[in-house]
Amino acid sequence: MPGLSIEGYVIVSADGMLADARRVMPEALKFEGDKQFFTTALDRADLIVHGRHSHEGQPNSARRKRIVLTRAIGAIADDPRNPNATLWNPAGASFEAACNHAGVSSGIVAIIGGPGVFDMFMDRYDTFWLSQAPNVKLPGGEPVFSGVPRQSPQEVLTQHGLVPGESQILDAANGVSVTPWRRTPHTS
Ligand SMILES: NC(=O)c1ccc[n+]([C@@H]2O[C@H](COP(=O)([O-])OP(=O)(O)OC[C@H]3O[C@@H](n4cnc5c(N)ncnc54)[C@H](OP(=O)(O)O)[C@@H]3O)[C@@H](O)[C@H]2O)c1
Repeated sequence: MPGLSIEGYVIVSADGMLADARRVMPEALKFEGDKQFFTTALDRADLIVHGRHSHEGQPNSARRKRIVLTRAIGAIADDPRNPNATLWNPAGASFEAACNHAGVSSGIVAIIGGPGVFDMFMDRYDTFWLSQAPNVKLPGGEPVFSGVPRQSPQEVLTQHGLVPGESQILDAANGVSVTPWRRTPHTS
């Protein structure tokens, strides 16, 4: 949809994991500076998209419009537990149809995981905000993209036409930073 800006958000460990071996995001991957960055980004987004296990669980969550991926329905449905949520099964309906159901046709769409959802939008990101925690390792954990750990997350983003911009430090003591990976007009 031409009016939508698609933005990805994640924090990964040094070995490219977004969760531990139990598929849970551990405390070791949670940093106040990154949480503030993520919260501010979600507050300015017009729509949030995530898999059923990747709800952000923040104080402002109930106010945010969202699309939740699930195979529990055939195509698109209202979420009976949340008036601001649309349930979407991509096997039965397009992303555009889900956005229409959610009532969003322009603005910022924040894609917040998990890995299958990140993969699905790989060729559509305008910007992917990759936060990194270089002192955290999660051996046997859940990789951020399906190409990891064979490739690094940065190599996957490069392969899909995204180029890194200037990094910002989010937590100096722990070396945590975020880098915007943007699609240039000449790549796809
Ligand atoms: N470090 C970070 O920044 C970060 C970011 C995001 C997530 N995480 C963590 O990573 C873990 C992610 O969990 P997860 O791997 O289970 O991923 P998930 O995508 O959050 O949840 C998976 C569920 O979402 C639905 N789903 C996903 N892809 C679908 C598709 N193509 N079609 C239909 N439904 C689909 C399915 O729900 P149904 O079972 O209902 O069919 C599936 O069981 C969580 O612990 C989360 O906290 C961390």
